[in-house]
Amino acid sequence: MEEVNEERRQVQSNGRCRYRHSYVIFSILVILAMCYYVIVNENSETWKATIGVLFQKTFHNKTSSETLNTVTRGIVSPTTVTRGIVSPTTVTRGIVSPTTVTRGIVSPTTVTRGISAAPWKPPDPYYVAYPHKYSFVINEPEKCQKENTFVVLIIPVSPGNVAARDAIRSTWGSEKVVADKTVSLLFLIGWPTSEDSEKLQEDLLRESEKHHDILQSDFWDSYYNLTIKTAVMLEWLSAYCQNAQYAMKIDSDMFLNVKNLVNLLLPAPKQNYMTGLVARNAMVLRDPHSKWYLPITAYSPFHYPPYALGLGYVFSLDLAGKLIEAAQHVKAVYIEDVFVGMCMKHLGIDLTNPPDGSLFNVFPVDYNRCHYSKLIATTTRSLENIVNFWRDLQTPGPYC
Ligand SMILES: *[C@@H]1O[C@H](CO)[C@@H](O)[C@H](O)[C@H]1NC(C)=O
Repeated sequence: MEEVNEERRQVQSNGRCRYRHSYVIFSILVILAMCYYVIVNENSETWKATIGVLFQKTFHNKTSSETLNTVTRGIVSPTTVTRGIVSPTTVTRGIVSPTTVTRGIVSPTTVTRGISAAPWKPPDPYYVAYPHKYSFVINEPEKCQKENTFVVLIIPVSPGNVAARDAIRSTWGSEKVVADKTVSLLFLIGWPTSEDSEKLQEDLLRESEKHHDILQSDFWDSYYNLTIKTAVMLEWLSAYCQNAQYAMKIDSDMFLNVKNLVNLLLPAPKQNYMTGLVARNAMVLRDPHSKWYLPITAYSPFHYPPYALGLGYVFSLDLAGKLIEAAQHVKAVYIEDVFVGMCMKHLGIDLTNPPDGSLFNVFPVDYNRCHYSKLIATTTRSLENIVNFWRDLQTPGPYC
């Protein structure tokens, strides 16, 4: 009897041991996976970019839910980005938080669509209706010729976001000439889908008549259509702005140092040139809860091709036509900057890292006159920040 009991205990403790073993092995595997992830992102700059990729949702969701954006952005603190050596805790944070951040964000089906009574249901939620022939409802066909544009800034913005457009017009968007070079500015808008779309459209026409800085195309303006927006931007550039040297796609909540942008571009290559915050070896997110979830059916590789984060990327104008051509052969994904990266890969053209890693910033940079006098672009926490920072930078006196 004693012996049997002893044996049973032995068996039980063996079982527990095995449990513990598999737990340890599992932990080791998780840590190895994290290490691999860090190692492939070999230098601090791309690491930073990759953090941005992980948190990309925060920076992509501008058109559809601007308020959520500010909330999520508050959660993602810049301190999670460490330069140089990345400690395991940072890694864990980087990997764990996106899911926390992403939960509760408006899903495509909950976005209200005013046009049809029944909620719109896509056949495949990751399907992007591009290539397709979209046309312009509001156009500025002669803008680049008339202004003899050097660099054209294209700002995708939602139809109702007059506040962002006005903030930009009154700040960095007002800097029209730098070093004798013309900087042109255009807001890119799709078709309003909200309840008050008719009124919105009337307001837009009036706004366009006043400022002549709006392009509107006839696709539905929604988060999952941002790739269409970018493609339409490229189509417009290649059709109407061939005389310009460069273009920049920049988001509407960004601070832009126009002078530094022009200074970057003056000596830059005139062809096959694209720069910004370049992400390399960024992992495709396969967690269905992630907002950047891409199923294998939409895109099968483990990593994205190199791409410049959508917050603000710059490219030589020749690329507009080339990218449109490539887009006919590349299956579109709804993550617009990744899609541009895929087209660049198709073309076999590499992206250029910016000369300095602090020029483009995915996390809002705290205001510091010296720092802001040196950077090119940074996300901001509010439109008021854009206005206040820009005004301060205009006042005379030393920067540093
Ligand atoms: C994107 O725009 C196209 C064209 O207007 C439309 O058919 C489609 O429903 C839109 N998709 C989303 C997700 O809004």
